[in-house]
Amino acid sequence: MVAQRSISALLAGAAVSSACTIPTEPLGNNIDYSFRAQVQNASRPEVHNQYMNLFEAGGGDRHLFIGPVGVPTYDLTLVGGVINHVPNGVRAVIGGEFSEIDHTTKMFMTGRGDPRAVFQPTYACNPDTDELQIELRFVTWQDHPEGGHICVRSAFDNSHEFRYSPPGNELIDVDRECIKVTLVVIPTTDLPPPQTSSTRTSTTLSTSTTSTAISTPTGNPPSGGPFTDLTAMGYRFLGCAPEERWTDDGAFRTLSGATYSSDNAMTNEACAAFCGESGFRYAGTEWRRECWCGNDVAPTRQPATTLAGLAHCNDGYRCTGDPTQNCGGDAWLSLYERCDGGEGCENAIFT
Ligand SMILES: *[C@@H]1O[C@H](CO)[C@@H](O)[C@H](O)[C@H]1NC(C)=O
Repeated sequence: MVAQRSISALLAGAAVSSACTIPTEPLGNNIDYSFRAQVQNASRPEVHNQYMNLFEAGGGDRHLFIGPVGVPTYDLTLVGGVINHVPNGVRAVIGGEFSEIDHTTKMFMTGRGDPRAVFQPTYACNPDTDELQIELRFVTWQDHPEGGHICVRSAFDNSHEFRYSPPGNELIDVDRECIKVTLVVIPTTDLPPPQTSSTRTSTTLSTSTTSTAISTPTGNPPSGGPFTDLTAMGYRFLGCAPEERWTDDGAFRTLSGATYSSDNAMTNEACAAFCGESGFRYAGTEWRRECWCGNDVAPTRQPATTLAGLAHCNDGYRCTGDPTQNCGGDAWLSLYERCDGGEGCENAIFT
């Protein structure tokens, strides 16, 4: 957190000066504050300044896209030069889907031991604004010769996928040129901006067409009861809270401190553990696969303690990791709160 603040201060300081001054001290190859990865190629507006998204691809792997495919991520870190996404236990590697036409190879994220993509953080000046930025310069595909670069090549649904082009490669696939990009670290001090419903829809459609199917809600309550008793792990169930409301109470998301999603392993326990480890008081699951964390719940978003209110989260949105549990509803959160020591830990009572 100290590192994060000093980086923000450094970047903010650079913004007010008239020209970009590159600090002389070199950067290490670990970044322990959360960031998003932006791609830049100022001469290619179709990809310039877009962000890397993670797309669930089976076996826990995440494929990497820019454009309207995948889920925006705000919590990447760099460990020994390797991009990590800790909530999903994956890191960026290169391998597979070698193309005979342009000799590029896919870059994706996995928990397995494939050769990693290794980057070196380096100060540079933003091509549009001249502000100081930190780029992830590509160093090597582990166990391969140094050099080469990362590029993005057009893929389905108007997206581009991330690929590696080897040193000296001049081959181009004329149907889908792999555009060389610079990867830029964008620190995420404030998590995450409101997700618009159109983003949400395209994510949903893409996921259901190409990854392992998530069954649609059945409308039948699960066998485990309307909520999960997490009191043994120190969380009480508060109720079913409204979420994603366009009201004038300032927030679109009810909990906006941190988030992750899983198409095969979401449970209320996993979400509470994630939020707790991230230092948040509230944890809420939604829409079978999402986990949201925060430190407060606006007065307009408090869950009702009526059976009718509870029913919004007992409508067949079973957790992707445990079909006996409910994980929220469509724009409703199954809301849990960490119990503070000493006052007992009891779930809300619904009447
Ligand atoms: C932009 O992409 C083109 C095509 O891959 C490449 O030739 C050029 O070097 C790239 N520009 C930058 C700044 O990376």
